Amino acid sequence: MKIITFTAIKGGVGKTTLTLNYGDWLAKHGKKVLLIDLDHQCNLTTVFEKTRRNNTIAEAFKETDNAQKVKIDSVGPNLDLIAGFIDLDVLGSYLENNSNKEMMLFMWFKNNSDSLSLTDYDYILIDTHPDFSTITKNSIAISNYLLSPITPSEHGYNAKFDLETRLEKFRK
Ligand SMILES: Nc1ncnc2c1ncn2[C@@H]1O[C@H](COP(=O)(O)OP(=O)(O)OP(=O)(O)O)[C@@H](O)[C@H]1O
Ligand SMILES: [Mg+2]
Repeated sequence: MKIITFTAIKGGVGKTTLTLNYGDWLAKHGKKVLLIDLDHQCNLTTVFEKTRRNNTIAEAFKETDNAQKVKIDSVGPNLDLIAGFIDLDVLGSYLENNSNKEMMLFMWFKNNSDSLSLTDYDYILIDTHPDFSTITKNSIAISNYLLSPITPSEHGYNAKFDLETRLEKFRK
C-alpha cells in the first residue's frame, strides 16, 4: 500500500483534478484505490455527490468517545471515497492544544486499519486544502509520497521552495 498526499500552499494548481484523474487511472489499471477528501472545500466529495455532515473523515480527528464511524463509499470499480467535511478547518483549530494534533490521522489508521480493511488498498490518495495546516500535516505524516503541482510562473515556482522549507521544519 502506498499513501500519496496531493498538496500545495498555492490554491487552484490542480491538486483535486490530479487526485481524481490519477485515482481514476490507477483504478482502471486494476489497482484498488481509496480517495480521501481532507479539504474542507470538499471539491472531490462534490464530484461524486457524496456531500454530507455525518460519517466523514472528520471523525478521524475527534476523540474516540464522541466519534462516529467513518464511512467508505464505493464511487466506481476499484474506486472508493471517504467524504470530506465542510467544517474540517474549524475542527482542526480545536486540535491546537492537543499534543498529538499532527498524529490524529496516523492513530486513526492504526486503530481502524483492520475494521475498514485499509491495508487492502494498493493506493490511498489524499486531497488537501491549499495550506500547511494541522490537518494537512496529518496527511503528510502518514504519506509515502507528496505530489505538489506547480503553475509555470515565478510565484508558482517560489511556492515549491516555501513548501520544501515548511516540510523540512515539520520533518525535524
Ligand atoms: N492539468 C491541467 N490543465 C489545465 N487546467 C487544469 C489542469 N488541472 C486542473 N485544471 C483546472 O484548474 C482549476 C483548478 O483545479 P483544481 O480545483 O484541481 O485545483 P486545486 O489545487 O485543487 O484548487 P484548490 O487549491 O482550490 O483546492 C480547475 O478549473 C481545473 O479544471
Ligand atoms: Mg482542490
